[in-house]
Amino acid sequence: MINVALPKGRLGEKVYGMFAAAGYECPSILENNRKLIFENADAGVRYFWVKPSDVAIYVERGAADIGMAGKDILLEYAPDVYELLDLNVGRCRMAVAAKRDFRDDTEKTLRVATKFTIIARRYYAGLGRDIDIIHLNGSIELAPILGLSDVIVDIVETGKTLLENNLEPLETIVPISARLIANKASFKFNSDAIEAIARGLKGQVKDYD
Ligand code: PRP
Repeated sequence: MINVALPKGRLGEKVYGMFAAAGYECPSILENNRKLIFENADAGVRYFWVKPSDVAIYVERGAADIGMAGKDILLEYAPDVYELLDLNVGRCRMAVAAKRDFRDDTEKTLRVATKFTIIARRYYAGLGRDIDIIHLNGSIELAPILGLSDVIVDIVETGKTLLENNLEPLETIVPISARLIANKASFKFNSDAIEAIARGLKGQVKDYD
């Protein structure tokens, strides 16, 4: 049995659709109930719904053999897992954004609000820029509006959240998409089953321009 950690939510349902189309369906999973574990013994898979940012922890520690995690989480937490496949869903970008009238004063330490402190630190270290990191857990867009920070480093998908809060994107740090990840020991001991799943999913990956 291969244990699969899927991120709870719309993106996870999309990824489950890829598993199902690849021959690993488990119809009861889409029934609207509060169960968190679903299994298809014939196909040899058991799915768990987990909080998206926790998928990598389940996989790294072997509670799940494989899972789907955003590249943002993989870059930020650097879990010790194999990244097997870019699923090309959940596409967005990690970006720097600020108020429309923001003018950067490079003489001053830049105040950066973000959930992604490692990604932000690495990005500004690469630019040789002194920053003061303000770690927030959500609603990051509020920080520059209330004068808590000069800029934010956050995920931009459609750009709607920035637009509606009078912010604008300044730089893209890195493109993000969902990745299939595997526990290292599981991959060694169940390589046939995991590679078969990865091949099946690869057949479901859609190309985008
Ligand atoms: C992310 C991000 C932005 C929003 C961007 O939040 O933090 O707030 O999506 O999307 P948009 O460009 O399409 O408007 P998410 O919904 O992941 O929740 P979070 O606040 O918990 O990070």
